[in-house]
Amino acid sequence: MNGQSWDPETYQRNAGFVSELGTPLIARLDPRPGERILDLGCGDGVLTERLAESGAEVVGVDASREQVEAARQRGLDARVMDGRALTFKQEFDAVFSNAALHWMSEPAAVLRNVHAALKPKGRFIGEMGGQGNVATISDALVAALARRGIDGKALSPWFFPDVDEYTRLMEEAGFRVAEIGLFVRPTPLPTGIEGWLETMARTFLEAVAPAERQAYLEEVITDLEPELRDAEGQWTADYVRLRFAAFRR
Ligand code: BEZ
Repeated sequence: MNGQSWDPETYQRNAGFVSELGTPLIARLDPRPGERILDLGCGDGVLTERLAESGAEVVGVDASREQVEAARQRGLDARVMDGRALTFKQEFDAVFSNAALHWMSEPAAVLRNVHAALKPKGRFIGEMGGQGNVATISDALVAALARRGIDGKALSPWFFPDVDEYTRLMEEAGFRVAEIGLFVRPTPLPTGIEGWLETMARTFLEAVAPAERQAYLEEVITDLEPELRDAEGQWTADYVRLRFAAFRR
């Protein structure tokens, strides 16, 4: 994830579902005993631990010191490393990444580093937010900032590519793209929209002066309610995923 600080407990409470939803991606990776696997953007290590249970030797990297510390508490080999500055050279049979690549700026550099980290013919299996991901939420955050004279689009920390753009970036980095596709996955939010915004949309919230922040948050929530909250009070985010499998040439 990016360099912003993450509180592992808050993340687990408001976004623990992120790793739960990564289960199908582990099946697609199909980790084998003895393989060496890099988990890029490992967060608190919930999925890294599941990869390690396969008998593979797993290294997790994340830009957040706090999340890496939480992953180490699980006994994992986790290291603080930014996707733009990976130092591995032809070490891994596979690179795995769930719900992390959309936080990383300079995607071409990240992909070059992933390519360099893989052994020849190594696989890169990933899922991230794709084009249109959280568009309703994003629009509400940006519109409420615009009403305060702030350009929220320019501030956005997220990168949600479409199939063509990400295919091109992967091919330019030296990958053969075997599978890639976008799919819509409406995602129930266990702690509602407020917890999600406070955890995932901090860049937008912090663009507003502290005294005005609660009013901004409430305005965004009011705007989102008709579209994302059902009659029982359940909030569902408008997630769109980009999932792919690619191989180092
Ligand atoms: C996602 O996993 O799609 C996501 C997470 C946080 C912010 C935006 C999107």
